[in-house]
Amino acid sequence: MFTRILIVISLQAAIGFLVLPKIIAGDIDAQGLYKKHCVTCHGNDGTGKTDLGEGLGARDFTDKEFQNSITDEQIVGQIENGTKEKMFPFKDKLTPEEMKALVPVIRAFGG
Ligand code: HEC
Repeated sequence: MFTRILIVISLQAAIGFLVLPKIIAGDIDAQGLYKKHCVTCHGNDGTGKTDLGEGLGARDFTDKEFQNSITDEQIVGQIENGTKEKMFPFKDKLTPEEMKALVPVIRAFGG
């Protein structure tokens, strides 16, 4: 009896372990994350024309040249590590999956 319960519990743990990360990844509201964490500086339209964005020198995400000059890895790296005295790092606030999910949001501003 006890062994059966144990088997059931460990099976559930194993299944949960395999299935959960996928469900969580699919549930990320990347637009919501952008609105919550990025809009103050980068703006709703991604141009960076906000008081903070202009003051700190955020680039225009709708600019094709900007889009061509940056790789997806660099976007994730920027979100992760920020830039000293300009953009604070998000590695303690967002999970790696959330940071990756923000890449298409940034790309979408480029049209
Ligand atoms: C406090 C204001 C601020 C916040 C909040 C902020 N950023 Fe930034 N971000 C900046 C500034 C300023 C730069 C330019 C940094 C530089 O010149 O190195 C920048 C640069 C970037 C870049 C690289 C483009 C470039 O200009 O070199 C990306 C991509 C980016 N931010 C994405 C994000 C995302 C995604 C978020 C939200 C998770 C976010 N930022 C939150 C201010 C901010």
